[in-house]
Amino acid sequence: MMDFMKIKQGTLADYPFQTAVFYDLIDENTMETLRKEYPKDNFILYERRMGHDKTYKQCGRHLIVPGENHAYKEEMLSETWLAFVQDLLSDDYREATERLIGQSLKNAYIGVDLWRFDPGSGCYIAPHADVPWKISTHLFYFVKEWDPSWGGILRYHDCNKNDDVAREVVPSMKMSPVLVRSDQSFHSIEPVNEKAPESRKVVDIVFYNQMPPEPKPGRLSSGIIPSENLID
Ligand SMILES: [Fe+2]
Repeated sequence: MMDFMKIKQGTLADYPFQTAVFYDLIDENTMETLRKEYPKDNFILYERRMGHDKTYKQCGRHLIVPGENHAYKEEMLSETWLAFVQDLLSDDYREATERLIGQSLKNAYIGVDLWRFDPGSGCYIAPHADVPWKISTHLFYFVKEWDPSWGGILRYHDCNKNDDVAREVVPSMKMSPVLVRSDQSFHSIEPVNEKAPESRKVVDIVFYNQMPPEPKPGRLSSGIIPSENLID
């Protein structure tokens, strides 16, 4: 379903760190099906106020556990979601990303998570550069229409400036950003406020240069959130 050729032929911007942006990587109808069938099972709220590379509050669920070659809780996923997972696990996707970022992913592990920032949930991610075992991040958004006044903007920071927001990315189903990890790749996500009529839903695809270690102490986590408590 994904247009791997667009990724393969993509180019990276260098400021404030290496990023790319793609449009219509997946056709509109398929994106709409994925949005409507976005999972609601097995979401857990995680919060870190200290003790590692960033502070955050996030509500997440695995889609692909790093190192595994199938979907997490695949019995809960629709056919279209399973096809999306197959694309993400394919050699074509890995090779296209490898070409884009100019780094070998031959021995990399792919891990994919779903994150939902429900309106008024207080979910956010403070500025951080990403842990050194991340190579790259690729995002897809599953939102109908997003008004920047609702919050939830992804910001790229220029740490060499005082007014450090270099670029703002507003969630959109048509648009799909890639971030290449470096010591300069500072980014953050602001909270989604009560004005938002829908949850800010994301697919977060990461290539790792090693199996990611267990989270360091200091991370708080809820139990599994009942799906009726989540906003569509
Ligand atoms: Fe990050």
